[in-house]
Amino acid sequence: MLILRPMSSPAPNLTTPDATDLRAAFAGVQALVAADMARVDARIREELRSDVVLIQQIGAHIVHAGGKRLRPMLVLLCARAQGDRGSDAAVALAAIVEFIHTATLLHDDVVDESDLRRGRKTANAMWGNAASVLVGDFLYSRSFQMMVGLDRMAVMRVLADTTNAIAEGEVLQLLNMGDPDTTEARYLEVIRRKTAILFAAAGSLGALVAERTPAEQQTMHEFGLALGMAFQIADDVLDYTGDAALLGKNLGDDLAEGKPTLPVIIAQRRADAATADAIREAVREGNREALPLILRAIRDTDAVDASLQCAREYAARAEQLLESLPATPWREALRTLSRFSVERDR
Ligand code: IPE
Ligand code: IPE
Ligand code: MG
Ligand code: MG
Repeated sequence: MLILRPMSSPAPNLTTPDATDLRAAFAGVQALVAADMARVDARIREELRSDVVLIQQIGAHIVHAGGKRLRPMLVLLCARAQGDRGSDAAVALAAIVEFIHTATLLHDDVVDESDLRRGRKTANAMWGNAASVLVGDFLYSRSFQMMVGLDRMAVMRVLADTTNAIAEGEVLQLLNMGDPDTTEARYLEVIRRKTAILFAAAGSLGALVAERTPAEQQTMHEFGLALGMAFQIADDVLDYTGDAALLGKNLGDDLAEGKPTLPVIIAQRRADAATADAIREAVREGNREALPLILRAIRDTDAVDASLQCAREYAARAEQLLESLPATPWREALRTLSRFSVERDR
């Protein structure tokens, strides 16, 4: 059993005994779904095929770099926890969700001008923005081909609504860029759409493929949504406090883009007037050089702890929603993933 550890700012690296427990628990979850995930990976490899060489190259570059595969794991676990026995449809849905996620990463790294992802140079850094956007489109549309293959209107509805909401989230975020007046509520709305909705889809599709009722699908939608909120808040903290080698991403990308994320919003609200002004300026300018100043402000105002506290509340809500499921190893694995979404270092 893991104990939720109050983290001290500014570097929440997973180095304490609790963190070791969490890492072991996460490895346990991976082992539990290993056989199903091997089928998902085989499906992903198969569906990357194209006679256009650049698509193969870029697709393989990002997909074979790994990633945590959290979303497909959620689909599989939610399905298993509700009676699915490793159906082909569950495997296909897990692959579809990972394709959608990967497409958003290709697009996101162009928008964010990021040059490191999964410990590798990003596709945009290697092949340019145009190629990244277009291969992202290929992955999106391939995921829709796979969906149609399942021939279930309910699945198509969930995924069409999901991808549409993600696009809205990304555009909403664009509107907040460089705006230091972005409120916590506006920030939360962005991350709900751009990130949490896909986790929600993973949950509800798991229930759907296990032939659960609409009410049960809704519960798993809400479970995924809460977990996804926790996950993105933690991601936004890690952008300031993480270890780039573990994360496989550069720190400070959010600040460089003038992206007002929760740690910055809280620090700005709590800081003295002069510091708050400096933070506002850094967000307005999208100034990476201001990173030391922001880190100091985040530390002095306990903004990391406050952000992680908010993430923990979402994770706790996610865990609470799991109570409606029968007690199985699959449910326990979902509980572990809820905690991992916050207390993680990668
Ligand atoms: C990155 O997601 C994008 C966010 C929503 C923060 P992940 O951290 O799950 O990325 P991979 O798949 O493990 O690389
Ligand atoms: C998540 O936001 C973006 C998507 C939902 C695609 P970020 O911009 O924070 O993700 P990372 O940090 O680049 O992975
Ligand atoms: Mg990004
Ligand atoms: Mg990020």
